[in-house]
Amino acid sequence: MRRIRKIPEISIGMVGHIAHGKTTLTRALTGKLTLSHSEELKRGITIRLGYANFVIRKCEKCDEYTTEETCPKCGGKTIPVKRVFIIDAPGHETLMATMIAASSIIDAAVLVIAANEPCPQPQTKEHLKALEIAGIKNIIIVQNKIDTVSKERAIENYKEIKNFVKGTIAENAPIIPISAQRGINIDVLLKYLDEIPVPKRDLTKDPIFLIARSFDVNKPGTKLEELKGGVLGGALIQGKLKVGEEIDILPGIKRENEYKPIKTKIASLSLGKEIYPGESAGIETELDPFLTKSDKLAGNVAGRNLPPVWNHIKVEVHLLEKIVGAREEMNVEPIKMHEPLMINAWTAKSLGIVKSLGKLVEMDLKIPICISKGEKIIISRKIGQKWRLIGYGIIK
Ligand code: GTP
Ligand code: MG
Repeated sequence: MRRIRKIPEISIGMVGHIAHGKTTLTRALTGKLTLSHSEELKRGITIRLGYANFVIRKCEKCDEYTTEETCPKCGGKTIPVKRVFIIDAPGHETLMATMIAASSIIDAAVLVIAANEPCPQPQTKEHLKALEIAGIKNIIIVQNKIDTVSKERAIENYKEIKNFVKGTIAENAPIIPISAQRGINIDVLLKYLDEIPVPKRDLTKDPIFLIARSFDVNKPGTKLEELKGGVLGGALIQGKLKVGEEIDILPGIKRENEYKPIKTKIASLSLGKEIYPGESAGIETELDPFLTKSDKLAGNVAGRNLPPVWNHIKVEVHLLEKIVGAREEMNVEPIKMHEPLMINAWTAKSLGIVKSLGKLVEMDLKIPICISKGEKIIISRKIGQKWRLIGYGIIK
């Protein structure tokens, strides 16, 4: 892919309740359908994280925002102003861990709310909570499916949204009425996306690439000499990575009940010769593609001089007051001895068994996690048949 390097880049998450239009909006912006998995196409829902990127352009003559090279309004020439990397998250209530993984690799978010349903729906609330915990301050709300409702309903829904975001990090977020399917008001959304400040990137630190997906990209029957190495999909959060460089992957692959680190080389990058922080990309490695097949390495971290790998963690826990992901809100009960909790650390998912309670909560982890001290982990508890977000912890 040829890239214009001189423009600022930002990574945004498409989040919100199931079927509110995240994937449709991603497609409207990028032209790319992020559903690819056969199960996703069959059921019409997003299951895994989708990646796409596009360039926001502005007309030199009339300042119109567009993604086209020629201005749709005046026919003038447009210039590129910002590249946007989209992480399209699933809205299904059982896929919260995947949405949380997305929240660890984005700078900002578009919260998609369908105007034809009362607001808030459970995952509208749960996703906003997850953004709040992840510290994502730049949020744009889109009121989608505006083509399906009357003007009165649209206004009522706008009031519902305003009421819902009161007192949250999205209190002052812009609310843009759009139709992702009909392409209505997309130019307004582009303008707000262009206004999101680009965070400071640290290129001097050791590279940390969070792996959210991993693939074997070879078609069955590919000749041995044409086989591509295992591919890692994810985002670089600091440092730089270049083709030809060595990388470590932690915690690695499970062999005889132990996780063994992996070393490999970058054979190619989906974005060209180098990747920078804030960019989501595919890294082709020299690994046997069998090792990366079907997201086997998702949750691992790639880079150099990586943070520690933890089998046992001590965390300072912060619980939410209420569980917001279920239809009925319930109080969050304190953490109990021996209880199993789902832990999300960056893009990794593990199960923690509580071993000690006190000022710090100690847990043994079923799958080790690689993460820096002081980082946040997200904690969920199984309520009924589903994992619900109950709070976060800071690794001590
Ligand atoms: P999950 O990823 O599974 O949570 O769903 P999603 O939020 O990605 O929703 P998706 O884009 O798959 O859209 C769900 C359905 O809503 C599809 O049938 C879309 O065609 C429809 N849809 C999305 N946006 C619009 C819109 O603006 N107007 C109308 N009428 N339908 C829409
Ligand atoms: Mg989707």
